[in-house]
Amino acid sequence: MSVAELVRLSHEPIKPKIGSRILNSKAELMSGDLAAPLRQLLEERGVLIFPEINFTDAEQVALTKMVGKFLPEIDGEEVYNISLDQRVNKKSEYLKGSLYWHIDGTMNKVPIGACILSSKVLPTWGGATEFCNTYAAYDELPAAKKAEIERLRVAHSAWTTLFYYEPEPAQAKLEEMMAIGETELPLVWSHGSGRKSLVLGATADHVVGMNWTESARLLNGLREWATSEPFHYSHEWKVGDAVMWDNTGTMHRARPYDPDCGRLLHRTKTSGEEPIV
Ligand code: OGA
Ligand code: MN
Repeated sequence: MSVAELVRLSHEPIKPKIGSRILNSKAELMSGDLAAPLRQLLEERGVLIFPEINFTDAEQVALTKMVGKFLPEIDGEEVYNISLDQRVNKKSEYLKGSLYWHIDGTMNKVPIGACILSSKVLPTWGGATEFCNTYAAYDELPAAKKAEIERLRVAHSAWTTLFYYEPEPAQAKLEEMMAIGETELPLVWSHGSGRKSLVLGATADHVVGMNWTESARLLNGLREWATSEPFHYSHEWKVGDAVMWDNTGTMHRARPYDPDCGRLLHRTKTSGEEPIV
């Protein structure tokens, strides 16, 4: 038996219903032996923290490949710069929506599977990343609420998020966001695993066929519930931290920060394995 085969995943929970800290060394993680237990823990815990692990981009890409099928950016880039500075990220405009609770890729046929962020430059103020566990939030709903929402469908669109950060946009800008398209998704995602999670976030516009006021009441109430204390974890970054999340069973958002402060995170991701059904 080789020494590598003795490597065990070493971890501790952060909160009962979300988040675990991974305590293995970088060398242990890079050995590849921990891929299967990492995948399993990610699904169970929603968010995994690798404190001050200081991954290079190549190491971050390697870790991402261990937990799923690597998905490069549309332009082929493997690592995406999360920065509100237009000189660092030409598409930084789209990141303004990341300050509101969301699931990555709800507008795609299959949303993103897992994501990893690594901190490169800290913000001067603000800029924590918050997560919530949408599996646990669903599981703990009262039975009557589960029955009420079981078959509901929700219209999602990218343009809905525009109004969060720009209430009176230029018409051309609205048209540009509308061109991204619209989609209809179930409010409750029945995963292949048999587990269920809530599908909410800033792209969720209205419940199909429901009175507008009732729809807003329901979606806002569920968002408040899903992001409430028991299901919620806020990550205050240190340079070199890496955070991995299961995008299929969580929502996340960035807290406000100085857009000119240089805050920089490197992001990698895997393609999801199942559509939202
Ligand atoms: C993302 C995202 C949040 C942050 O990378 O998808 O939403 O804290 N980032 O920058
Ligand atoms: Mn995001």
